[in-house]
Amino acid sequence: NDSIAEGDKPLPIPPILEDENPDPDKAEFTLVAQKGSMEFLEGKVTDTFGYNGDYLGPVIRVKKGDDVSVKVRNELGEATTIHWHGLEVDGEDDGGPHSGIQPDTTWKPEFTIEQNAATLWYHPHLLHKTGEHVYKGLAGLFLIDDQESEKLDLPDEYGLNDIPLIVQDKQLDENGQFAYDLSMHDVMMGLQGDTIMVNGAINPYVEVPKGKVRFRLLNGSNARIYQFALSNGQEFYQIGTDGGLLEEPVKMDSLVLSSAERAELIIDFSEYEKGESVELTDQGMPFMKFVVSGEEKGPKEIPSQLVDIPEVDESIASRTREFVMSGMGRNVTINGKQMDMDRIDEQLKLHDTEIWEISNEGMGMMGNNMGMAHPFHGHGTQFLILDRDGNPPPANERGWKDTILVEPGEKVRAIATFDHKGLFMYHCHILEHEDAGMMGQFNVE
Ligand code: C2O
Ligand code: CU
Ligand code: CU
Repeated sequence: NDSIAEGDKPLPIPPILEDENPDPDKAEFTLVAQKGSMEFLEGKVTDTFGYNGDYLGPVIRVKKGDDVSVKVRNELGEATTIHWHGLEVDGEDDGGPHSGIQPDTTWKPEFTIEQNAATLWYHPHLLHKTGEHVYKGLAGLFLIDDQESEKLDLPDEYGLNDIPLIVQDKQLDENGQFAYDLSMHDVMMGLQGDTIMVNGAINPYVEVPKGKVRFRLLNGSNARIYQFALSNGQEFYQIGTDGGLLEEPVKMDSLVLSSAERAELIIDFSEYEKGESVELTDQGMPFMKFVVSGEEKGPKEIPSQLVDIPEVDESIASRTREFVMSGMGRNVTINGKQMDMDRIDEQLKLHDTEIWEISNEGMGMMGNNMGMAHPFHGHGTQFLILDRDGNPPPANERGWKDTILVEPGEKVRAIATFDHKGLFMYHCHILEHEDAGMMGQFNVE
Protein backbone atom coordinates (compact mmCIF):
# COMPACT_ATOMS: atom_id res chain seq x y z
CA ASN A 1 0.00 0.00 0.00
CA ASP A 2 2.03 2.92 -1.28
CA SER A 3 0.09 5.74 0.44
CA ILE A 4 1.47 4.57 3.75
CA ALA A 5 5.13 5.52 3.89
CA GLU A 6 7.68 3.83 6.09
CA GLY A 7 7.71 5.39 9.52
CA ASP A 8 4.13 6.63 9.22
CA LYS A 9 2.31 6.14 12.48
CA PRO A 10 -1.15 4.62 12.65
CA LEU A 11 -3.74 6.74 14.43
CA PRO A 12 -4.14 5.55 18.03
CA ILE A 13 -7.80 4.83 18.81
CA PRO A 14 -8.62 5.52 22.46
CA PRO A 15 -10.13 2.40 24.03
CA ILE A 16 -13.66 2.37 25.40
CA LEU A 17 -13.48 2.16 29.17
CA GLU A 18 -14.90 -0.97 30.73
CA ASP A 19 -18.19 -0.54 32.58
CA GLU A 20 -17.72 -2.35 35.90
CA ASN A 21 -21.42 -2.53 36.71
CA PRO A 22 -23.25 -5.57 35.23
CA ASP A 23 -26.66 -3.85 35.50
CA PRO A 24 -27.48 -2.60 31.96
CA ASP A 25 -29.01 0.64 33.28
CA LYS A 26 -26.11 1.44 35.54
CA ALA A 27 -22.54 2.21 34.71
CA GLU A 28 -19.47 2.40 36.88
CA PHE A 29 -16.05 3.48 35.76
CA THR A 30 -12.60 3.94 37.22
CA LEU A 31 -10.26 6.65 36.03
CA VAL A 32 -6.77 7.10 37.41
CA ALA A 33 -4.98 10.37 36.69
CA GLN A 34 -1.34 9.44 36.53
CA LYS A 35 2.10 10.43 35.30
CA GLY A 36 3.44 8.84 32.17
CA SER A 37 5.88 9.16 29.33
CA MET A 38 5.65 9.02 25.54
CA GLU A 39 8.05 8.90 22.65
CA PHE A 40 6.39 11.43 20.37
CA LEU A 41 9.74 12.23 18.73
CA GLU A 42 12.10 9.40 18.01
CA GLY A 43 14.64 8.90 20.77
CA LYS A 44 13.11 11.57 23.00
CA VAL A 45 11.04 10.75 26.04
CA THR A 46 8.32 13.27 26.87
CA ASP A 47 6.95 13.43 30.41
CA THR A 48 3.18 13.32 30.22
CA PHE A 49 -0.03 12.96 32.18
CA GLY A 50 -2.80 10.55 31.27
CA TYR A 51 -5.87 8.75 32.58
CA ASN A 52 -5.37 4.99 32.95
CA GLY A 53 -2.33 5.27 30.71
CA ASP A 54 0.47 7.51 29.57
CA TYR A 55 -1.40 10.07 27.53
CA LEU A 56 -5.03 11.22 27.11
CA GLY A 57 -7.71 8.93 28.51
CA PRO A 58 -10.11 6.15 27.55
CA VAL A 59 -13.58 6.84 26.15
CA ILE A 60 -16.39 6.82 28.66
CA ARG A 61 -19.45 5.60 26.78
CA VAL A 62 -22.91 5.66 28.35
CA LYS A 63 -26.57 5.58 27.35
CA LYS A 64 -29.24 8.17 28.01
CA GLY A 65 -30.98 7.13 31.23
CA ASP A 66 -27.95 5.40 32.75
CA ASP A 67 -27.08 5.94 36.39
CA VAL A 68 -23.37 6.56 36.30
CA SER A 69 -20.74 6.60 38.96
CA VAL A 70 -17.08 7.28 38.36
CA LYS A 71 -14.20 6.70 40.72
CA VAL A 72 -11.50 9.21 39.92
CA ARG A 73 -8.23 8.44 41.62
CA ASN A 74 -5.48 11.07 41.62
CA GLU A 75 -1.97 9.67 41.36
CA LEU A 76 -0.41 12.77 39.82
CA GLY A 77 1.35 13.86 43.00
CA GLU A 78 -0.49 17.19 42.86
CA ALA A 79 -4.11 18.30 43.13
CA THR A 80 -6.40 18.21 40.11
CA THR A 81 -10.13 18.02 39.28
CA ILE A 82 -12.09 16.33 36.52
CA HIS A 83 -14.87 18.14 34.71
CA TRP A 84 -17.41 16.55 32.35
CA HIS A 85 -17.50 19.18 29.64
CA GLY A 86 -20.98 19.49 28.12
CA LEU A 87 -22.64 17.10 30.54
CA GLU A 88 -25.85 18.24 32.22
CA VAL A 89 -25.37 17.33 35.88
CA ASP A 90 -25.62 19.13 39.22
CA GLY A 91 -22.84 21.49 40.23
CA GLU A 92 -21.47 19.13 42.88
CA ASP A 93 -20.81 16.46 40.23
CA ASP A 94 -19.60 18.85 37.52
CA GLY A 95 -15.96 18.74 38.59
CA GLY A 96 -15.21 22.45 38.49
CA PRO A 97 -12.50 24.22 40.48
CA HIS A 98 -14.29 23.64 43.82
CA SER A 99 -14.09 19.85 43.43
CA GLY A 100 -10.36 19.49 44.00
CA ILE A 101 -9.03 15.94 44.20
CA GLN A 102 -5.99 15.89 46.45
CA PRO A 103 -3.05 13.57 45.66
CA ASP A 104 -3.72 9.92 46.51
CA THR A 105 -7.42 10.47 47.06
CA THR A 106 -10.48 9.40 45.06
CA TRP A 107 -13.47 11.50 44.03
CA LYS A 108 -16.70 9.68 43.29
CA PRO A 109 -19.37 11.69 41.49
CA GLU A 110 -22.71 10.06 40.64
CA PHE A 111 -25.21 11.28 38.10
CA THR A 112 -27.94 10.22 35.70
CA ILE A 113 -27.58 10.81 31.97
CA GLU A 114 -30.55 12.95 30.98
CA GLN A 115 -29.42 14.37 27.67
CA ASN A 116 -29.42 13.09 24.10
CA ALA A 117 -26.67 11.33 22.19
CA ALA A 118 -23.59 13.55 22.01
CA THR A 119 -19.83 13.69 21.84
CA LEU A 120 -18.69 15.31 25.09
CA TRP A 121 -15.33 15.24 26.82
CA TYR A 122 -13.63 15.40 30.20
CA HIS A 123 -10.62 17.30 31.45
CA PRO A 124 -9.18 18.85 34.64
CA HIS A 125 -10.45 22.21 35.88
CA LEU A 126 -8.25 23.21 38.81
CA LEU A 127 -7.94 26.97 39.25
CA HIS A 128 -4.83 28.32 37.44
CA LYS A 129 -3.82 24.75 36.51
CA THR A 130 -6.30 23.72 33.82
CA GLY A 131 -4.04 24.76 30.95
CA GLU A 132 -1.02 22.87 32.22
CA HIS A 133 -2.93 19.70 33.12
CA VAL A 134 -4.74 19.50 29.78
CA TYR A 135 -1.54 20.35 27.91
CA LYS A 136 0.32 17.47 29.52
CA GLY A 137 -2.34 15.04 28.36
CA LEU A 138 -5.33 14.97 30.68
CA ALA A 139 -8.36 14.76 28.40
CA GLY A 140 -10.72 12.10 27.11
CA LEU A 141 -14.00 11.65 25.28
CA PHE A 142 -17.36 11.09 26.93
CA LEU A 143 -19.91 9.67 24.48
CA ILE A 144 -23.63 9.40 25.02
CA ASP A 145 -25.84 7.11 22.96
CA ASP A 146 -29.62 7.13 22.84
CA GLN A 147 -32.39 5.15 21.15
CA GLU A 148 -33.28 7.85 18.68
CA SER A 149 -29.76 8.14 17.30
CA GLU A 150 -29.31 4.36 17.26
CA LYS A 151 -32.29 4.10 14.91
CA LEU A 152 -30.54 6.34 12.40
CA ASP A 153 -28.51 4.59 9.76
CA LEU A 154 -25.20 6.28 10.61
CA PRO A 155 -21.73 4.70 10.54
CA ASP A 156 -21.37 3.25 14.03
CA GLU A 157 -18.52 0.76 14.22
CA TYR A 158 -16.23 2.39 16.73
CA GLY A 159 -12.67 2.70 15.46
CA LEU A 160 -13.62 1.40 12.00
CA ASN A 161 -16.13 3.82 10.54
CA ASP A 162 -16.90 5.87 13.66
CA ILE A 163 -13.55 7.39 14.48
CA PRO A 164 -12.63 9.84 17.26
CA LEU A 165 -10.14 12.57 16.40
CA ILE A 166 -8.75 14.58 19.33
CA VAL A 167 -6.75 17.36 17.73
CA GLN A 168 -4.17 19.24 19.82
CA ASP A 169 -1.23 21.46 18.98
CA LYS A 170 1.94 21.14 21.03
CA GLN A 171 5.31 22.73 21.41
CA LEU A 172 8.04 20.21 22.21
CA ASP A 173 11.32 21.70 23.46
CA GLU A 174 14.79 20.47 22.45
CA ASN A 175 14.52 17.66 25.02
CA GLY A 176 11.18 16.61 23.66
CA GLN A 177 9.36 17.99 26.69
CA PHE A 178 6.03 19.80 26.80
CA ALA A 179 7.35 23.11 28.03
CA TYR A 180 4.59 24.87 29.91
CA ASP A 181 6.32 28.05 30.96
CA LEU A 182 4.30 30.76 29.41
CA SER A 183 5.79 33.70 27.60
CA MET A 184 3.82 36.95 27.48
CA HIS A 185 2.80 35.95 23.96
CA ASP A 186 1.46 32.61 25.24
CA VAL A 187 -0.57 34.35 27.92
CA MET A 188 -1.91 36.74 25.33
CA MET A 189 -2.75 34.36 22.49
CA GLY A 190 -3.02 31.17 24.51
CA LEU A 191 -0.33 28.51 24.16
CA GLN A 192 -0.03 27.47 20.53
CA GLY A 193 2.46 24.92 19.27
CA ASP A 194 3.88 24.09 15.87
CA THR A 195 3.17 20.36 16.12
CA ILE A 196 -0.34 19.05 15.64
CA MET A 197 -1.15 15.71 17.24
CA VAL A 198 -4.22 13.58 16.68
CA ASN A 199 -5.08 11.18 19.50
CA GLY A 200 -1.51 11.70 20.68
CA ALA A 201 0.28 10.93 17.40
CA ILE A 202 2.11 13.31 15.09
CA ASN A 203 1.00 13.18 11.47
CA PRO A 204 -0.73 9.80 11.71
CA TYR A 205 -2.68 7.88 9.09
CA VAL A 206 -5.84 5.91 9.55
CA GLU A 207 -7.27 3.29 7.22
CA VAL A 208 -10.90 3.92 6.38
CA PRO A 209 -13.38 1.73 4.52
CA LYS A 210 -14.59 2.56 1.02
CA GLY A 211 -17.81 4.19 2.18
CA LYS A 212 -19.18 6.83 4.48
CA VAL A 213 -17.15 7.37 7.63
CA ARG A 214 -18.12 9.31 10.72
CA PHE A 215 -15.52 11.33 12.60
CA ARG A 216 -16.01 12.75 16.07
CA LEU A 217 -13.74 15.76 16.15
CA LEU A 218 -12.69 17.39 19.39
CA ASN A 219 -10.52 20.48 19.42
CA GLY A 220 -8.65 19.51 22.57
CA SER A 221 -6.07 22.25 22.13
CA ASN A 222 -5.36 24.84 24.78
CA ALA A 223 -5.98 27.75 22.44
CA ARG A 224 -5.70 27.11 18.71
CA ILE A 225 -8.66 27.72 16.42
CA TYR A 226 -8.54 25.34 13.46
CA GLN A 227 -9.90 25.66 10.00
CA PHE A 228 -10.25 22.08 8.87
CA ALA A 229 -10.60 20.98 5.24
CA LEU A 230 -9.64 18.06 3.04
CA SER A 231 -6.50 18.45 0.93
CA ASN A 232 -8.38 17.81 -2.33
CA GLY A 233 -11.16 20.27 -1.52
CA GLN A 234 -13.75 17.49 -1.19
CA GLU A 235 -16.94 18.44 0.59
CA PHE A 236 -18.12 16.67 3.72
CA TYR A 237 -21.15 16.78 5.97
CA GLN A 238 -21.38 18.05 9.51
CA ILE A 239 -23.97 16.00 11.39
CA GLY A 240 -23.37 17.04 14.98
CA THR A 241 -22.32 19.93 17.19
CA ASP A 242 -21.04 20.08 20.80
CA GLY A 243 -24.20 18.73 22.39
CA GLY A 244 -25.66 16.32 19.84
CA LEU A 245 -26.80 15.67 16.31
CA LEU A 246 -28.09 18.39 14.01
CA GLU A 247 -31.55 18.31 12.43
CA GLU A 248 -30.02 17.54 9.07
CA PRO A 249 -26.53 17.04 7.63
CA VAL A 250 -24.90 20.30 6.55
CA LYS A 251 -22.66 20.20 3.50
CA MET A 252 -19.41 22.11 3.98
CA ASP A 253 -15.95 22.43 2.49
CA SER A 254 -14.25 23.73 5.62
CA LEU A 255 -14.97 23.82 9.32
CA VAL A 256 -13.81 26.29 11.96
CA LEU A 257 -13.47 24.71 15.38
CA SER A 258 -12.27 26.59 18.46
CA SER A 259 -10.86 25.17 21.65
CA ALA A 260 -13.26 22.66 23.30
CA GLU A 261 -15.77 22.63 20.45
CA ARG A 262 -16.79 19.31 18.89
CA ALA A 263 -18.15 18.45 15.49
CA GLU A 264 -19.33 15.15 14.07
CA LEU A 265 -18.55 14.82 10.39
CA ILE A 266 -19.28 12.33 7.65
CA ILE A 267 -16.73 12.01 4.88
CA ASP A 268 -17.61 9.92 1.85
CA PHE A 269 -14.77 7.70 0.66
CA SER A 270 -16.90 5.54 -1.64
CA GLU A 271 -15.44 7.04 -4.83
CA TYR A 272 -11.85 6.32 -3.81
CA GLU A 273 -9.70 3.52 -5.17
CA LYS A 274 -8.14 1.08 -2.77
CA GLY A 275 -4.95 2.63 -1.39
CA GLU A 276 -5.88 6.17 -2.38
CA SER A 277 -5.50 8.76 0.33
CA VAL A 278 -6.49 12.28 1.26
CA GLU A 279 -5.17 14.53 3.97
CA LEU A 280 -6.90 16.51 6.68
CA THR A 281 -5.55 20.05 6.75
CA ASP A 282 -5.61 23.07 9.04
CA GLN A 283 -5.49 26.29 7.03
CA GLY A 284 -4.06 24.29 4.16
CA MET A 285 -1.40 22.49 6.24
CA PRO A 286 -1.84 18.70 6.27
CA PHE A 287 -1.59 16.99 9.67
CA MET A 288 -3.10 13.53 9.17
CA LYS A 289 -4.04 11.17 6.37
CA PHE A 290 -6.99 8.96 5.52
CA VAL A 291 -6.02 5.90 3.50
CA VAL A 292 -8.89 4.04 1.86
CA SER A 293 -8.87 0.26 2.24
CA GLY A 294 -10.64 -1.98 -0.24
CA GLU A 295 -13.33 -2.95 2.21
CA GLU A 296 -16.84 -1.61 1.74
CA LYS A 297 -18.67 -0.85 4.93
CA GLY A 298 -21.52 1.16 6.37
CA PRO A 299 -24.65 2.83 5.07
CA LYS A 300 -24.96 3.64 1.36
CA GLU A 301 -26.71 6.94 2.06
CA ILE A 302 -26.65 9.22 5.04
CA PRO A 303 -30.06 10.05 6.49
CA SER A 304 -31.44 13.38 5.29
CA GLN A 305 -33.19 13.93 8.64
CA LEU A 306 -31.34 13.38 11.91
CA VAL A 307 -32.98 14.59 15.14
CA ASP A 308 -35.47 17.25 16.15
CA ILE A 309 -34.04 20.44 17.55
CA PRO A 310 -36.80 22.31 19.34
CA GLU A 311 -38.10 25.50 17.80
CA VAL A 312 -36.78 28.30 19.98
CA ASP A 313 -39.41 30.43 21.61
CA GLU A 314 -37.60 33.47 22.91
CA SER A 315 -40.63 34.65 24.81
CA ILE A 316 -40.27 31.88 27.41
CA ALA A 317 -36.93 33.34 28.53
CA SER A 318 -37.21 34.87 31.99
CA ARG A 319 -34.46 37.35 31.28
CA THR A 320 -31.44 38.31 29.22
CA ARG A 321 -28.08 38.20 30.94
CA GLU A 322 -25.05 39.95 29.50
CA PHE A 323 -21.49 38.66 29.38
CA VAL A 324 -18.86 41.01 28.02
CA MET A 325 -15.43 39.58 27.29
CA SER A 326 -12.60 42.08 27.12
CA GLY A 327 -8.98 42.81 27.89
CA MET A 328 -5.80 41.11 26.89
CA GLY A 329 -2.88 39.20 28.36
CA ARG A 330 -3.28 38.72 32.09
CA ASN A 331 -6.00 41.34 32.17
CA VAL A 332 -8.68 39.35 30.37
CA THR A 333 -12.05 39.74 32.05
CA ILE A 334 -15.72 38.89 31.78
CA ASN A 335 -18.01 41.77 32.77
CA GLY A 336 -14.91 43.60 33.95
CA LYS A 337 -14.12 40.98 36.59
CA GLN A 338 -11.64 38.17 37.03
CA MET A 339 -12.38 34.84 38.64
CA ASP A 340 -12.78 34.87 42.42
CA MET A 341 -13.53 31.50 44.04
CA ASP A 342 -15.37 33.30 46.84
CA ARG A 343 -17.62 35.44 44.66
CA ILE A 344 -20.74 34.19 42.92
CA ASP A 345 -21.26 36.38 39.91
CA GLU A 346 -24.70 35.34 38.74
CA GLN A 347 -27.75 33.88 40.52
CA LEU A 348 -30.15 31.80 38.43
CA LYS A 349 -33.44 30.13 39.21
CA LEU A 350 -33.67 26.37 38.71
CA HIS A 351 -35.58 25.42 35.52
CA ASP A 352 -35.50 28.97 34.18
CA THR A 353 -34.80 29.59 30.52
CA GLU A 354 -32.51 32.55 29.89
CA ILE A 355 -30.99 34.36 26.98
CA TRP A 356 -27.26 34.90 27.35
CA GLU A 357 -25.93 37.77 25.33
CA ILE A 358 -22.22 37.21 24.92
CA SER A 359 -20.10 39.92 23.43
CA ASN A 360 -16.44 40.35 22.70
CA GLU A 361 -15.25 43.90 23.17
CA GLY A 362 -11.88 43.16 21.68
CA MET A 363 -9.15 45.02 23.49
CA GLY A 364 -11.58 47.63 24.60
CA MET A 365 -9.66 50.33 22.81
CA MET A 366 -8.87 51.46 19.30
CA GLY A 367 -12.34 50.44 18.18
CA ASN A 368 -14.11 47.14 18.29
CA ASN A 369 -12.40 44.96 15.77
CA MET A 370 -9.02 44.77 17.42
CA GLY A 371 -8.37 41.88 19.71
CA MET A 372 -8.96 38.18 19.46
CA ALA A 373 -11.75 35.67 19.26
CA HIS A 374 -12.76 34.01 22.54
CA PRO A 375 -14.61 30.68 22.77
CA PHE A 376 -17.19 31.21 25.54
CA HIS A 377 -18.22 28.10 27.47
CA GLY A 378 -21.00 27.65 30.01
CA HIS A 379 -21.27 24.59 32.26
CA GLY A 380 -24.27 22.49 33.21
CA THR A 381 -26.48 23.03 30.16
CA GLN A 382 -26.54 23.19 26.37
CA PHE A 383 -27.36 26.35 24.43
CA LEU A 384 -29.03 27.10 21.12
CA ILE A 385 -27.63 30.10 19.30
CA LEU A 386 -30.36 32.64 18.50
CA ASP A 387 -28.28 35.03 16.48
CA ARG A 388 -24.84 36.39 15.72
CA ASP A 389 -24.89 40.17 15.43
CA GLY A 390 -28.60 39.89 14.76
CA ASN A 391 -28.25 37.32 11.96
CA PRO A 392 -29.34 33.70 12.20
CA PRO A 393 -26.41 31.36 12.95
CA PRO A 394 -24.87 29.39 10.08
CA ALA A 395 -26.57 26.04 9.38
CA ASN A 396 -23.83 24.02 11.09
CA GLU A 397 -24.40 25.93 14.34
CA ARG A 398 -28.14 25.28 14.51
CA GLY A 399 -27.72 22.58 17.11
CA TRP A 400 -26.79 22.22 20.78
CA LYS A 401 -23.73 24.21 21.76
CA ASP A 402 -21.80 24.54 25.00
CA THR A 403 -18.87 26.46 23.56
CA ILE A 404 -19.47 29.45 21.31
CA LEU A 405 -16.74 31.28 19.45
CA VAL A 406 -17.23 35.04 19.61
CA GLU A 407 -15.20 37.22 17.25
CA PRO A 408 -13.86 40.64 18.28
CA GLY A 409 -16.66 43.15 18.09
CA GLU A 410 -19.29 40.42 17.79
CA LYS A 411 -22.39 39.87 19.91
CA VAL A 412 -23.97 36.40 20.12
CA ARG A 413 -27.31 35.63 21.73
CA ALA A 414 -27.90 32.07 22.95
CA ILE A 415 -30.73 30.50 24.90
CA ALA A 416 -30.60 27.72 27.49
CA THR A 417 -32.65 26.13 30.23
CA PHE A 418 -30.93 25.54 33.56
CA ASP A 419 -32.29 22.28 34.91
CA HIS A 420 -29.44 21.45 37.28
CA LYS A 421 -28.75 23.05 40.59
CA GLY A 422 -25.49 24.11 42.08
CA LEU A 423 -22.44 26.14 41.30
CA PHE A 424 -21.13 26.27 37.74
CA MET A 425 -18.52 28.14 35.71
CA TYR A 426 -18.62 30.18 32.56
CA HIS A 427 -15.33 31.10 30.95
CA CYS A 428 -13.22 31.56 27.89
CA HIS A 429 -11.98 28.12 26.78
CA ILE A 430 -8.60 29.42 25.72
CA LEU A 431 -7.13 27.75 28.76
CA GLU A 432 -4.47 30.39 29.36
CA HIS A 433 -7.26 32.99 29.46
CA GLU A 434 -9.31 30.84 31.81
CA ASP A 435 -6.31 30.35 34.08
CA ALA A 436 -5.59 34.10 34.00
CA GLY A 437 -9.09 34.69 35.37
CA MET A 438 -11.38 35.01 32.38
CA MET A 439 -14.01 33.02 34.25
CA GLY A 440 -16.98 33.59 36.51
CA GLN A 441 -19.39 31.55 38.61
CA PHE A 442 -23.14 31.13 38.44
CA ASN A 443 -25.33 29.48 41.00
CA VAL A 444 -28.58 27.76 40.12
CA GLU A 445 -31.14 27.20 42.87
CU1 C2O B 1 -14.14 22.40 29.16
CU2 C2O B 1 -15.14 24.78 32.18
O1 C2O B 1 -14.57 23.57 30.72
CU1 CU C 1 -17.26 22.63 30.76
CU1 CU D 1 -10.14 34.13 25.58
